[in-house]
Amino acid sequence: MNEKIEALKSSFDSELKKIANMVDLEALRVNYLGRKGKVTDALKGMGSLTDEQKKTVGRETNELKTAITVALAEKLEALKAQELQREINALPEFDISMPPDMTRGSYHPITLVQRQCEQVFKSMGFTVEDYAEVVTDYECFESLNIPKFHPARDMQDTLYVSDGIVLRTHTSPLQVRTMLKQKPPVAVVAPGRVYRRDSDITHTPMFHQVEGLLVDKHVTMADLRGTLTAFMREVFGSDTRIRFRPSFFPFTEPSAEADISCCMCGGKGHVNGTTCRVCKGTGWLEILGCGMVDPEVFKAVGYDPEEVTGFAFGLGVERIAMLKYGIGDLRMFFENDVRFLGQFA
Ligand code: DAH
Repeated sequence: MNEKIEALKSSFDSELKKIANMVDLEALRVNYLGRKGKVTDALKGMGSLTDEQKKTVGRETNELKTAITVALAEKLEALKAQELQREINALPEFDISMPPDMTRGSYHPITLVQRQCEQVFKSMGFTVEDYAEVVTDYECFESLNIPKFHPARDMQDTLYVSDGIVLRTHTSPLQVRTMLKQKPPVAVVAPGRVYRRDSDITHTPMFHQVEGLLVDKHVTMADLRGTLTAFMREVFGSDTRIRFRPSFFPFTEPSAEADISCCMCGGKGHVNGTTCRVCKGTGWLEILGCGMVDPEVFKAVGYDPEEVTGFAFGLGVERIAMLKYGIGDLRMFFENDVRFLGQFA
């Protein structure tokens, strides 16, 4: 019996030496210590032994079990350590003495353009305002002479936060906010994010506008045209062509849209014989809406339309940035690719 145990021990030892992974190690454990394992097997036939012999064999078997258990545990630890070392070896080299990457960030082109707009208008005497992106239906539409049935309020375009509360679809609520808290004269611009349910090559669900409002005695359409022309010359340089087109906005009368010659095709409408995809062949890019403040809007804020007149405008910041930097796809602004953004450092 004693010899049997000795033999078991040495066969276990030699098998253990050959084990190189945890799966085989577990198989070895089952083979020796399992319910049908070799150690259990060895106890069979004990019935024919004397009590004294049984005691010895029992003790020796227990010692063997303990020895095997300890050896298995040590081997398991060794295998785990090997595994860890393999993983560490597979890691890319890391040199802690390398200096950190000190590449500096840059302002987003939208921020740059927005700031330039602010600066140009400030130089003309406008103040810069900031206000909420979540506004009431009244501020966004009703007070701006956009009645309940107007298509601009359609669920297609407007993102509703809750009943009567919207994500502003334009920066025009600024007009009402400003006039409600301030008596004329007013000369204010407000840059900011606006939201619409719209997404294609020239539209994103969130974009930026700069709203402007000037109210005083004797303000005319000529002041509007003069102010905006001066602004555009400042931003785009004197060779950019500008045109005003009659248009319609519920909160201005008369209304106009201003276009700038297309940045991609230089106003030709085509690039290398193919239709320009930015201006869709027209040669012009719409960058702002404007007009003389509608008397209805003045009435909504308690201004006397017999007393004062004013002009308002709302311009698209992304459009201006595309023009300024010759960017063909509006979506580049929102992808946050550092290779793109890094160019504005
Ligand atoms: N709010 C208009 C829009 O989002 C733009 C606009 C047009 C603003 C005419 C104005 C304006 O202030 O007078 O399309």
